[in-house]
Amino acid sequence: MENKQKKRRLAIVTGGGSGIGFCLARQLAKRGFCVVLVGRDEHHLRQAAKAIDSYGERAETVGGRGKKAEAIGGHSGNAEIFPCDLSKQNECRRLYEAYRRRPVSVLINSAGLGVYGEFGDTDLAEETEMLAVNCRAVHMLMKLFLSDMERRGGGWILNVASSAGLMPGGPYMAAYYAAKAYVVSLTRGVAKELRARCSPVYAGALCPGPVDTPFFERAGIRAAVKGADPETVARAALEGMRRRQTLIVPGASNRLACAAAKLLPSGSVLAVNRRIQAKKRKTE
Ligand SMILES: NC(=O)c1ccc[n+]([C@@H]2O[C@H](COP(=O)([O-])OP(=O)(O)OC[C@H]3O[C@@H](n4cnc5c(N)ncnc54)[C@H](OP(=O)(O)O)[C@@H]3O)[C@@H](O)[C@H]2O)c1
Repeated sequence: MENKQKKRRLAIVTGGGSGIGFCLARQLAKRGFCVVLVGRDEHHLRQAAKAIDSYGERAETVGGRGKKAEAIGGHSGNAEIFPCDLSKQNECRRLYEAYRRRPVSVLINSAGLGVYGEFGDTDLAEETEMLAVNCRAVHMLMKLFLSDMERRGGGWILNVASSAGLMPGGPYMAAYYAAKAYVVSLTRGVAKELRARCSPVYAGALCPGPVDTPFFERAGIRAAVKGADPETVARAALEGMRRRQTLIVPGASNRLACAAAKLLPSGSVLAVNRRIQAKKRKTE
């Protein structure tokens, strides 16, 4: 049994403990993957893994922070947890080292956070942490797992960017928008290289508009518009991956906004974005 479990296709999902990452992980588990949920909050990851576990099939759990393998709640499941702080380079490496010899066929980089405020006022430490998670961790994990996937003859990498990454900029969330533009640009460039050499590995970027997740609460802001259902976004993401789309832009209104941002003068788009972002400020 242990060997059989070791051979099961693995999907690593950073940020798999909540929001879009959790929905993606749950849908991958439904499709027969053993999912590895990565995040900092071990308790949260356990709860998420238990929820995925309710889908039935058996899998083992690898403990994080250097611990030995540990079963979630002591019973079978489709999920493993790997507590890990992706803002730290050595933690990104630790994640890779823990899984490099296992059949990782899907990597989803969903972990991310937002920082809100005028650029001159936001906290530098918070912003550099955001850049480390939203950009460096995505960069490192994609680079590290990509070559192993190519050697094994296939794999799927999805980087959760944002429609923010397709905009000319986002006043009051300027660093977040810039970080997501980095993810979009990196993914597009890598995807083109992969296609040019007929690589069996897929790389794509998911660019949702606002989604109803804890993201806003964590960033200390309120949603300016009603967010999309994360389950629907996850389903669209997997469908986009199946079609090997490099840019997956879920939702009709989101697609329209992104298309308009391409066509309109960037000054006008920035002005609209400024108005939208200003509405996110909490006014208690
Ligand atoms: N919600 C939206 O409107 C929206 C729209 C477009 C794009 N996105 C993007 O979608 C992705 C997922 O966000 P979400 O909306 O699902 O929000 P979320 O529920 O807050 O998910 C973010 C996840 O990232 C993890 N994370 C944060 N910092 C981390 C760190 N240092 N190390 C490891 N994990 C870390 C969190 O887990 P821990 O706290 O346990 O570490 C959490 O599970 C993000 O990249 C976000 O930028 C969101």
